[in-house]
Amino acid sequence: MCGIIAAISRKNIINILKEGMIRLEYRGYDSSGLAIIDNKNKILRFREKGKVNNLIKSIERSHLFGNIGIAHTRWATHGKALKKNAHPHISSNISIVHNGVIENYKEIKICLKKEGYQFSSDTDTEVIAHLIHFTQNKNNKKTLLTVIQNVTKKLKGNYSMVIMDKNNPNVLLAVRSGSPLLIGIGKEENYITSDQIALLAITQRFIYLHEGDIAILTHSDITVFNSHGISKKRKETQSKINFNNVSKGLFRHYMEKEIHEQPHSIRNTILNRLTKNKTIYFSEFNTRANKILSKTEHIHIVACGTSYHAGLVSKYWFESLSMIPCDVEVASEFCYRKFVVRKNSLLLIISQSGETADNLTALRTAKNLGYLGSLAICNSKSSSLVYETDFSLLTHAGIEIGVASTKAFTAQLTVLLMLVAKFINIKKHNIKLEHDIVNILNILPDRIESILRYKNTIYTLAKKLFYKKNIIFLGKGEQYPIALEGALKIKEISYIHAEGYPIGELKHGTLALVDSKIPIIIIAPNNNLLQKIKLNIEEIQAREGLIYIFSDLFTKFNQNNSNIIRFPYIENLISPIFYSVSLQLLAYYIALIKGNNIDQPRNLAKSVTVE
Ligand code: AGP
Repeated sequence: MCGIIAAISRKNIINILKEGMIRLEYRGYDSSGLAIIDNKNKILRFREKGKVNNLIKSIERSHLFGNIGIAHTRWATHGKALKKNAHPHISSNISIVHNGVIENYKEIKICLKKEGYQFSSDTDTEVIAHLIHFTQNKNNKKTLLTVIQNVTKKLKGNYSMVIMDKNNPNVLLAVRSGSPLLIGIGKEENYITSDQIALLAITQRFIYLHEGDIAILTHSDITVFNSHGISKKRKETQSKINFNNVSKGLFRHYMEKEIHEQPHSIRNTILNRLTKNKTIYFSEFNTRANKILSKTEHIHIVACGTSYHAGLVSKYWFESLSMIPCDVEVASEFCYRKFVVRKNSLLLIISQSGETADNLTALRTAKNLGYLGSLAICNSKSSSLVYETDFSLLTHAGIEIGVASTKAFTAQLTVLLMLVAKFINIKKHNIKLEHDIVNILNILPDRIESILRYKNTIYTLAKKLFYKKNIIFLGKGEQYPIALEGALKIKEISYIHAEGYPIGELKHGTLALVDSKIPIIIIAPNNNLLQKIKLNIEEIQAREGLIYIFSDLFTKFNQNNSNIIRFPYIENLISPIFYSVSLQLLAYYIALIKGNNIDQPRNLAKSVTVE
């Protein structure tokens, strides 16, 4: 949600912090701030409401110089998006930036107020700053490390953070708890960030902190202590992400770029996973994973938002193709209801980021409930989700920066279809079907290329819809979750109210909304459900509904031709992936025509690390 970048060097670190914040802005963008210790050993802090650019303008006037500093981009949790609530928060010599939520901050605040501390923000983070200062003053012989170890014992919740102390101006302390923090290694300088993207322009060398780790950084040394206070050597990894891949290139927005990258991201996702014998090979699966899969009699999918929609599509596939019963639910509901775990059930969590708090809570809640095991489908190898599940499958979509998920979604569906084929093989149901899936996955990237060629047609439709207040999306079977996903994309970036429904459900209430003004987009591929869809279309037409049908070049409809958006032929198995791309383009063009901030829609953040 929020982004952290910190640096310690012999040189001026201001540009590192500025560049880092710009790169992290996609994670949270309602306010930002930085603090440095200058050469007179004074803490200088700058904070601004709104975009990082506002902060950068105010810093540029000040010609700052510092060898040590911390910075933050914020997505508000406690307290509105105001300058006073932006990080860093300061308590005398201590300044901190923090990702996460302190659940017991109110209790601690009451105690600190009794000790005479005054609060200038509404945040939970300021409480940590004062608590560190209080603990340090009470135990003035203790090292900063011991103080932080004592403080973390008192905090409940998530508190990945970086601490800078004016009285120890040659060190930065980092604590990982609940959300990722990694150390970047430079030449005669070191860095801390919540996302490697912030540092890729200056280093590819990273150390991922483990849960509970506390790291001490100087410009030349890195020491890591685990949650028991024992010094640990953590592995250094070389990032494989190309810095150029995190720029927009010739595209206007990351979302536009990511939509167009889908043939490539799907090719990456299937790479080395489709064998010559037309079977699926997952190098990630060890003997234990394969054993769990062969015992699996039920799949319980848990996810949020777009990833939840990927799960809903796969339910149709798991049940109709591999004959495995499957239930899908949103993580925030799963955590807070009593349910019965089915016999030999596999918990499958789908997430682009692997940091979504609702998913992590669901996983931790499910740990001792009797699932056979937990499997993650995720786009981030170093995420908490991959770390905490029993085994995982990576989507290899590449970093997704646009807040609206596009290429991560189609990569999730691709992995899910491969997993379905894997189950068909394990359960020895219908080997021909497994081969068919492999054949079809091989041509999927080309099929996505073919729908991308229709962007002008979709742009023309966007011009008819951008001023509307409501849009209804309808689908049947596997296309019903695609209707939900189309509606989510529209809400998210074009701020038009949209709903997705199963087309047969419309007559049970929502039909009352239908008139000649509300656009109704119907996904109607040429499959065994088409006749039923046509009947439902007649019902809508009888009420003068404003219908737009997404179908193929050959299917006949009774409707006015100008309202039928015709795409090339698509194989039924992969048609949900295919049509989802057309809806991504539609949402993108509507938001573009409206002039919205497409990559950073209002009130949202890329990964939602709070419940
Ligand atoms: C998608 O466009 C959204 N930004 C959002 O629904 C997202 O899919 C959801 O927050 C789940 O995120 P995750 O996949 O990273 O867990």
